Amino acid sequence: MTPRTPPAGSTWLRRSGLIWYLTAAVGQLAFIWMIVAHYGRKTMSGNYAGWNDKPIIKGYVEGDLIGNVMFAAHVLLAVVVTLGGLIQLIPMIRRRVPALHRWNGRLFLIIAFFMALGGLWLTWARVTYFTVPQAIPVSIDGVLILLFGTIALRLAMKRDIDAHRRWAMRTFMVVNAVWFLRVEIMGWAVLTHGWGLTETLSGPVDIALQFGCYLIPLAVLELYFMAQRSPRAVTKRLVSILLLVLTALMAVGIFGAIAFMWGPYTL
Ligand code: HEM
Repeated sequence: MTPRTPPAGSTWLRRSGLIWYLTAAVGQLAFIWMIVAHYGRKTMSGNYAGWNDKPIIKGYVEGDLIGNVMFAAHVLLAVVVTLGGLIQLIPMIRRRVPALHRWNGRLFLIIAFFMALGGLWLTWARVTYFTVPQAIPVSIDGVLILLFGTIALRLAMKRDIDAHRRWAMRTFMVVNAVWFLRVEIMGWAVLTHGWGLTETLSGPVDIALQFGCYLIPLAVLELYFMAQRSPRAVTKRLVSILLLVLTALMAVGIFGAIAFMWGPYTL
């Protein structure tokens, strides 16, 4: 064995990571497509009331100028933050065009902070929730975005690139929690015929899914980091297999979201 040979199992980890990324990218581009086709089109044509055509959305409220503007900014900037996150994870861009990586990273964090603060405002000040227990998980996500994003930024400024990479990945997961939630709910709905889901998203299954949308990705990410560090091939392979199983479940959720949650509102 030459010193340049990667440790056994590393190829499995890299490939399963790539398969996860490509699958997630399809789902995130579909999310972007829905936002542009539904919210973008209605906004451009001045049909603000049409935002509410999607079920259980408190978008347009007659006479609430600030709330309507905040909502429009929140959903339309979701396109930029989602696309920015996807670009940020492409290693070739990091290596070949580092200036793009840095500027895109700054833009991603600024918008993520705005989305988190705006989301907290929409939830608590505009009162966009069914029940308080249902509003708590997403609010914790908002706080985590602010916290993780600040840590990732400070590490980048200190040029501690290894630690920065880990915190940037954690930030990516919490920023995308709202996307994971939609995919998770639709995956659950397809596989269990909606067992336990309630109309107010406040039952035990709903709440578990709302915490799961960031706790599960964060836990899997930590396992991935641990497998990267581990010298044992078996650890790397087991984590790769777990990631592939979860990617298959995520693909079911993406299919469900495109077919039933996003597709119908894009025509
Ligand atoms: C940073 C990542 C985020 C993205 C990409 C994002 C994206 C979106 C999108 C696309 C919508 C429109 C709803 C739909 O059609 O599915 C929305 C609505 C909303 N978001 Fe966010 N969001 C983010 C973070 C947050 C956070 C952290 C909170 C709360 C603390 C939040 C609270 C809300 C609220 C209250 C609505 C109105 C939805 C309703 O009426 O049910 N968002 N968001």
